Amino acid sequence: MEQTEQIELGGYLNALATARGVTQNELGTYLGVDRATVSRVYKGAVVKIDHYDALATYFGMTLEEAREGASKHAASLTPASAGRSVLETSHYASPRTLTIASRKGGTCKTTSSVSIAGCLAQRGFDVVLVDLDGQANATSWLLDPEGPEPTGSAFEVVHDNVDPEELFRPSVVDGLRLLPGHDRLDTLDRKMVGEWGAEKRLARAMRNVRADYIIYDCPGDFDLRTVSALLGSRWVLVPTEVSSLAISGLAQFIPKLLEFSDPDFNPNLEVLGVLMCRYQKGTILSRDISSTLNTHLGELVMTRKIRESVRYKECPSHRELITDYAPKMGKDYVHVTDEILDRMERSNG
Ligand SMILES: Nc1ncnc2c1ncn2[C@@H]1O[C@H](COP(=O)(O)OP(=O)(O)O)[C@@H](O)[C@H]1O
Ligand SMILES: [Mg+2]
Repeated sequence: MEQTEQIELGGYLNALATARGVTQNELGTYLGVDRATVSRVYKGAVVKIDHYDALATYFGMTLEEAREGASKHAASLTPASAGRSVLETSHYASPRTLTIASRKGGTCKTTSSVSIAGCLAQRGFDVVLVDLDGQANATSWLLDPEGPEPTGSAFEVVHDNVDPEELFRPSVVDGLRLLPGHDRLDTLDRKMVGEWGAEKRLARAMRNVRADYIIYDCPGDFDLRTVSALLGSRWVLVPTEVSSLAISGLAQFIPKLLEFSDPDFNPNLEVLGVLMCRYQKGTILSRDISSTLNTHLGELVMTRKIRESVRYKECPSHRELITDYAPKMGKDYVHVTDEILDRMERSNG
């Protein structure tokens, strides 16, 4: 079978599964493979024709019938959604942009960026996740090991004016592309010292990207990368651990962020919310801190919280989203994504 035909067939099987509410996990069990392999079948990236044959049977048709259905299905797709799933999602004219930042490392930025980007992609949106951290944790979590090797990061976009679209790489999640991270990013600030307008380059380069959402996962240092992301974003989300130390940090960080919505910088920028992570239900500490935060930050505090769970440490090495790896725990991010979409709707007006 030709590659394009295989991609069409994968997309068609994905659409059938979506329409019938069959999950990747269920199909994985049926085929005796893991969920990531089902995802690759959907992308037309698996050579084993048996899988397509078996899935056609699962959906009550022969492989030939499935191929026919796939080519009709492909012809009915709009160019924006061709080649991937056909969930009921309207695509935006220009991307919605969200920076995920905080004042230091270890505050669940990467976990939140990956999980929120993943939830948006699972709803059928086209999502680009920009990994700005030299540690590249989001990249090692999500990069499709069967896809092409990364050839650059935001470093090359800012430093060498490379078109970001050339650098995007597929992830293990359908509908989610990565601008991969690389340790070179940690030198960007130093390399760009004295370059006039360096902080505007990333936003300018990303302006022509076709996507529904662009999510920036920031490093722990508040340097040129975070500033560049804030310049290119409509919103910023601040994840925080639920600890007393984190609260005092936030008291300084939020006013600093608000300075960036200055008319001379990015007047469109809004703090979308503060997201409480690693919440331990039933503990007095978590309850106290949550009420202190609510008192001081009011509406800025997201209603939905992310509970503490050891599962978050496990899913990166399995290259899975929390919503697939531990669906019950993963509901937290599904709800947070709902709230994010609501808040975006409300502030867009
Ligand atoms: N809800 C959670 N419960 C338990 N551990 C978490 C949770 N969210 C994140 N972690 C863990 O906390 C550590 C720091 O999270 P990470 O997202 O990498 O932070 P950052 O990107 O801000 O440095 C990681 O080991 C991660 O697995
Ligand atoms: Mg990180």
